[in-house]
Amino acid sequence: MADQYDSIADVYEQVKRIPIGLAETTTLVSALPDLNGKSVLDVGCGAGYYPRLFRSAGARRVAGVDAAQEMIAHAQRVEERDPIGISYELYDAAELPVMGAFDVVTAIWLLGYAPGADALDAMVTRLAANLVPGGELVVLFPNPDVDWDVLAGYSRYGMTVVGTGESAGRLSCTVHVEVDPPFDFESFYWPPGVVEATLERGGFTGLTRYPVVVPAEALAERGEGFWADLLACPTFAVYRAKLG
Ligand SMILES: C[S@@+](CC[C@H](N)C(=O)[O-])C[C@H]1O[C@@H](n2cnc3c(N)ncnc32)[C@H](O)[C@@H]1O
Repeated sequence: MADQYDSIADVYEQVKRIPIGLAETTTLVSALPDLNGKSVLDVGCGAGYYPRLFRSAGARRVAGVDAAQEMIAHAQRVEERDPIGISYELYDAAELPVMGAFDVVTAIWLLGYAPGADALDAMVTRLAANLVPGGELVVLFPNPDVDWDVLAGYSRYGMTVVGTGESAGRLSCTVHVEVDPPFDFESFYWPPGVVEATLERGGFTGLTRYPVVVPAEALAERGEGFWADLLACPTFAVYRAKLG
């Protein structure tokens, strides 16, 4: 499933600028611990959007890994053009070696791509293996409690999400991103409780879900009514937990 990202590596980050992407970033940032002086590993880092954000938030060391060669190549090109000290490597998250003992590990839109419960277990085990004891994990994955009828009206947030069936224990869908030119990718929603239980089995404690946050200027610009559906029924779920 990572290979679909090879063809959209150069356009993917436009998804962060549509209304839903603005809320995603603000919500993810609200769940982060203080990164000042910390080491951070971002697994499924894509084209490097979040690694760059973590560095600008004060992280001392940031590494990103992804299974899509073109995503990593794009991230490396940005780093070469404007070096800020981020390292990128090509790895499948389910086979991730120990790259270090990081203070914080993140996995943003990764866990839905685990093709089955065993692969999800393997990914969570590899995330834990890269954390210091007591280290923090922040994950964002497709919202298991989502209402598909409400999602059908999300064009105003810059994307449509259409269910396509079932695959390896997850609901599959096509995400159509309405930018110029538009692009599509496949996404997968685990049923309620599956990811949470896997994280607990993997040794994570204090699992906390963070509510959606809309940036203040976007709230003021479009008004509360515009954002109401997304706040009640987000496409994503953000959690933070501690190892041990
Ligand atoms: C929706 S993108 C999100 C990228 C990035 N986290 C972001 O939010 O900008 C999902 C990413 O997960 C990566 N991915 C999917 N399966 C993976 C796997 N098994 N191991 C590592 N990366 C994977 C894809 O290549 C893609 O870059």
